[in-house]
Amino acid sequence: MSSSAATSTNITWHEGHVSRDERAQLLKQRGLTIWFTGLSASGKSTIASALEQHLLHRGISAYRLDGDNIRFGLNKNLGFSPEDRTENIRRIAEVSKLFADSAAVAITSFISPYRADRESARSLHDEAGIPFVEVYADVPVGVAEERDPKGLYKKARAGEIKEFTGISAPYEAPVSAEIHIRTDQTTIADAVHQVTAFLETQQYI
Ligand SMILES: Nc1ncnc2c1ncn2[C@@H]1O[C@H](COP(=O)(O)OP(=O)(O)O)[C@@H](O)[C@H]1O
Ligand SMILES: [Mg+2]
Repeated sequence: MSSSAATSTNITWHEGHVSRDERAQLLKQRGLTIWFTGLSASGKSTIASALEQHLLHRGISAYRLDGDNIRFGLNKNLGFSPEDRTENIRRIAEVSKLFADSAAVAITSFISPYRADRESARSLHDEAGIPFVEVYADVPVGVAEERDPKGLYKKARAGEIKEFTGISAPYEAPVSAEIHIRTDQTTIADAVHQVTAFLETQQYI
């Protein structure tokens, strides 16, 4: 079964009573998706968590969708083959869009190594008129490997993990991410500031 083909028939979209604008007015915030991408151990989850905390403390509803966490549940039936990685990202793009449509700030942290998959996630948001902010957590693979908080690079080098991004599977770096953070040269606090400054400039928050 192709993941992109619609297999349901006889379905009709049921419009609600509250428009996106009215929802934003009522809840006093607009939804958007902040999409972190980068190598394993680049700092996606660390910065995303600090950003979520910062936004919540400012009274802004924010919620993280994190790679590993989602693979415990919604995406537990997916592995790391190219097809499964694409399906992983397709589902997350749809879920983050739903959160953003509900007026929350959805913060995703997935390696999302393929440019085409990230572009699909972006298009999905563009078509719905929901802002999509791509954040590249950029770090040299050598630094990521030194950090190795989960011991994954060690396992990948030992051949115990196949298709490990940066070692035995490709990572296609963003060419036009809205935000580029060199996490080996930026503190976590400054990274959060870099993101929130952008959101303020765009009047998203
Ligand atoms: N400036 C920084 N930004 C983000 N993480 C950093 C930074 N400096 C050191 N680290 C460390 O790097 C590791 C990043 O891990 P993690 O956030 O889980 O990465 P990812 O989610 O991208 O796999 C953590 O152990 C974190 O403490
Ligand atoms: Mg992570």
